[in-house]
Amino acid sequence: MESTLRPHDALASLVWQIELGATEAICDAPINRYDLPDKSAKPAAAPKAEGRPAAPVAPESSDPVAVARASATAAQDRDALRAALGAYPHCDLKRGARNLVFCDGNPAARVMIIGEAPGRDEDLQGLPFVGRAGQLLDRMLAAIGLSRGADAPQEAVYITNVLPWRPPQNRDPSTEEIAMMRPFVARHVDLIAPDLIVLMGNISCDAGLGKRGITRLRGTWAEAYGKPALPMFHPAYLLRTPAAKREAWADLLALKARLREATK
Ligand code: URA
Repeated sequence: MESTLRPHDALASLVWQIELGATEAICDAPINRYDLPDKSAKPAAAPKAEGRPAAPVAPESSDPVAVARASATAAQDRDALRAALGAYPHCDLKRGARNLVFCDGNPAARVMIIGEAPGRDEDLQGLPFVGRAGQLLDRMLAAIGLSRGADAPQEAVYITNVLPWRPPQNRDPSTEEIAMMRPFVARHVDLIAPDLIVLMGNISCDAGLGKRGITRLRGTWAEAYGKPALPMFHPAYLLRTPAAKREAWADLLALKARLREATK
């Protein structure tokens, strides 16, 4: 079959499929299953009987954000929240991911770090920030006496992401994907009740503050999810731009100082 893909894109797409676990090509031509008719679609409602009042419309919502809000609010603990995310039907990223990446660290921590989305390593292991960026994050935190493994809440961190599923080829999540995950993140923050939040990178600032522009936002305390929140450069950016580590160090010191204040 003739392909309309450029060779580089075709190769990237093949690598992506192999990463997802594909081992065999079944047909000559790809089938876009999102374009197939939805067999589970409900039959059309029966026409209204003449003269009778219309039956009340069931409150079942097709608004993904409303569904996310209802489902997140109903979750009374972290296990329930994780299960609610797993059962959430509106985010297609789930279909391409190996694991739901929910959290790592100490739930009693005073600092909660909110990253963007799992990458390849996180998707494979089911834990946030375990790849190269995560290793840098661990070193950054260690430099101010914090770690995800610490038992003492004032020395510990709790880590999650805006998105629990890896986006295909690590693309940026869409506005809709961020909006539908936001209620889950907000509930996650409620359940952990940290003193301070770190927003790692632009996607996290978008979800938490409703704005992007990390170069401008970083280092200035704001409020996100009802908590003091510090936007910081994402460690993946610091790997690409080592010169920005100087600002990241200043932000880490600001975090440490505020933590001292908050836990006095
Ligand atoms: N980048 C993130 O924002 N989160 C991860 O879990 C890994 C990389």
